[in-house]
Amino acid sequence: MFSSKSVLISLSLLMALAGCGKGADTPQTESKTASASGSGTQCALESTKDGSPLLIKAVATDTPQAKEFLQTCINPYTKLYAGDAEAAKEGRKKFGYYSCTQCHGPNGDGQVAVSITDERWQYAKHVTDKGMFETIAGGSNGGMFAWHQQVANNPDMVNTDDILKIVAWLRTQYKGGGDTPWLN
Ligand code: HEC
Repeated sequence: MFSSKSVLISLSLLMALAGCGKGADTPQTESKTASASGSGTQCALESTKDGSPLLIKAVATDTPQAKEFLQTCINPYTKLYAGDAEAAKEGRKKFGYYSCTQCHGPNGDGQVAVSITDERWQYAKHVTDKGMFETIAGGSNGGMFAWHQQVANNPDMVNTDDILKIVAWLRTQYKGGGDTPWLN
């Protein structure tokens, strides 16, 4: 049996090992360790419905691009598709495959539901790929379902990679003016 004193000692030892209260240069090393051993999700996604954490994990079948996004919040397809119309067709295909077209029209310009290709965003955060991903993956209070297979708990729904491809293609369809921060 442990005496309460030895528990206390091992607790403070543990805390020292875990690096509690160390100097300013440690967090970097800690987050590296976390990404190597953790779930592989470092990008803190938030639900568009209520701002709560949107828990999407990297899974074994994820592409390198999906893993990169879950680490960095950056969609690697956006810049690729901006310069490669042929590659962008892949995103368009997914947009049709998952019937996004039924509400948003074949080019995302709006049909039953809002246009995704003008500068009128339903939520200000849609100027970032992270924000648009959050609405597609986790749904909204204004009529968007949660499309991500982990959120919907349904393997037939959309995976991380396909949402990223759709977002990147939608960016190539943008017809509004002003800034295009997703290309920065
Ligand atoms: C049943 C109709 C319906 C379908 C199908 C649908 N959406 Fe939507 N979508 C909506 C509605 C309604 C909104 C507005 C939501 C809000 O304001 O909260 C919306 C909003 C959006 C937005 C934000 C647009 C903006 O201008 O800010 C994006 C992006 C989007 N949808 C992508 C998709 C994608 C990708 C799919 C397919 C995986 C899809 N939607 C399928 C109804 C639909």
